[in-house]
Amino acid sequence: MKHDAVAVVDFGGQYAHLIATKVRRHGVLAEIRQPEDDVDAFAPYRGVILSGSPSLASQGEEQDWNKEILDLDVPILGFCFGHQEIAAHYGGTVEHGGRQWGKAALHLTGPHALFAGQPEVQPVWMSHYDSVTAVGEGFTELGYSKSADDAPDHRFAAIGSDTLRRYGFQYHPEVDDTVYGDDMIANFVLGICGCKPTWSMEAYLEEEIEKIRRQVGEGSVFLLASGGVDSTVAAALLGRALGSDRLHLLHIDNGLMRKDESAQVLQIFAALGFEGSTHFVDASDTFLKALEGLVEPEVKRRAIGDAFVQVFQAKAKELGIEDHLLGQGTIYPDTIETGGTRRSGTIKTHHNRVPVIEQLIQEGKVVEPLAELYKVEVRELGEMLGIDHEMVWRHPFPGPGLGVRLLCSEGRADRTGFEVLEPALAALAARHGLEALALPIRSVGVKADLRAYEHPALLGGDLSWDALLEAVAVITADVPGINRCIYNLAPEMPHQATPVKAYATRERLDLLREADAIVMQALTRHGLYHEIWQCPTVLVPLDLDDTGGELVVLRPVHSRRAMTAQPVRLPDAILGDLRRDLLALPGVTGLALDVTSKPPGTIEWE
Ligand code: XMP
Repeated sequence: MKHDAVAVVDFGGQYAHLIATKVRRHGVLAEIRQPEDDVDAFAPYRGVILSGSPSLASQGEEQDWNKEILDLDVPILGFCFGHQEIAAHYGGTVEHGGRQWGKAALHLTGPHALFAGQPEVQPVWMSHYDSVTAVGEGFTELGYSKSADDAPDHRFAAIGSDTLRRYGFQYHPEVDDTVYGDDMIANFVLGICGCKPTWSMEAYLEEEIEKIRRQVGEGSVFLLASGGVDSTVAAALLGRALGSDRLHLLHIDNGLMRKDESAQVLQIFAALGFEGSTHFVDASDTFLKALEGLVEPEVKRRAIGDAFVQVFQAKAKELGIEDHLLGQGTIYPDTIETGGTRRSGTIKTHHNRVPVIEQLIQEGKVVEPLAELYKVEVRELGEMLGIDHEMVWRHPFPGPGLGVRLLCSEGRADRTGFEVLEPALAALAARHGLEALALPIRSVGVKADLRAYEHPALLGGDLSWDALLEAVAVITADVPGINRCIYNLAPEMPHQATPVKAYATRERLDLLREADAIVMQALTRHGLYHEIWQCPTVLVPLDLDDTGGELVVLRPVHSRRAMTAQPVRLPDAILGDLRRDLLALPGVTGLALDVTSKPPGTIEWE
């Protein structure tokens, strides 16, 4: 192997690949390995990192992995589930309980090479149900954590044995919210493992071009190009590897695009020199037909994904290029959230991972040159390939488009679990000086690496941002069945919410398009567009004032890789503009701001 490398053992947590990316950022090649791989497969590596997992170590849910990996004569560091497995293997105890979600403070117990140059108390990101409650001989507690200033200590947040060269962190150092996580990873791979930093993004580009040429051989590629950042960078990369005459682009207007978006997309491709090879289909009727009467998010996602394949295949047939490989700008989070690695649970089926496409992948008929990367890396690659800066830094827009931001309903209230949920919510909200209303619909979220399809709580009251976000953290952690909190922006706090019967229709989509355009223009006008990662606008079929109107929810988030996210504290000036313009839209009577982090909310609502 040309580069010093470490192995990341993928137990199927959301973050295994993110760990590899973070390691590569330090110039060290990191490769994903499976927990049942033979120890011989680990011979090339100078260190091993064990990822988190949706399984519970306390329940012995992941017993069948190859524990000989723990006997390798290299340093090993485990995160979350990996940390618990290390603790248990060397005589410690792991118990079900002590769960933490989101931010906590790590308190170091003394100096250690892993924490060199870091403060004694620092923010870390937690997402776990199980906890280490005792460590075996030779191990010491390197740090404990607290979820709030007055909360009890969570012991063994970081543990280690320098003699064995085995270490564990209960938190996730790989997510951006663990502020010094990058330094911890660097201290491990460069310091404790002694790797030399020789890997780079330029090296990745060269290797990827070779890989594409090998896979495509003499053939050609037909790329599904939504015009988002990913598919545009994929087009540029495939163009570089194959030449534009062996690449056809297909842009589909699925009726779920933003206002005037398809026209802009076609201009972008023309500017990139793909004018002659770009094809366009207005398939909005096909998609709307496929979505008719659907409500359940996963069913809607699949219908959209299938419609993409249907339109794509029809167009390929019409052009007589059915033998071309299908190109997609799939990036890593798309595959992991669909349960794309063997052990990950499905959180959302991304449009480019529906069963028909999985089948084509099995047959070797799909090219996805970005499938190993996260958005920041795609953007870096885009800039290296000479794509315009503004284009590369546009907000991400999901493949199923407004389809995942237009909630649908049969018009029946979903009050599952409300007997327990409502009193718990009322009590906690009151303790924080808030009014609260549990909403009888559900949205997708993620808790401890698993999909959580649960209720949002609408909160009202006059609180500082800090107090509000603290209340949200407590409510989503402690009220069973709540994975998201939204904050009322309408003049009055509603006291009841009635679902209205509503499906994916052109009228509702047009309304959402208008609302979205108002939000995007306001962000640009207030100089905030590039300050934030993304801001979905969501149309929720809930009548809050008995007029039959719907609720609009704004979801501005800060993020770097979309695996975790923080709600944006929008200034009063823009909130005033949005309140005025959105509540003036006919059919919109409710307005709220999503104030949930990810986890437990996801960025999109479905
Ligand atoms: P979530 O909602 O899972 O979203 O927190 C993470 C990021 O992925 C985008 N997203 C998608 N992108 N196809 C895509 O190309 C999809 O099906 C899809 N679903 C979510 C989302 O906008 C966010 O940036």
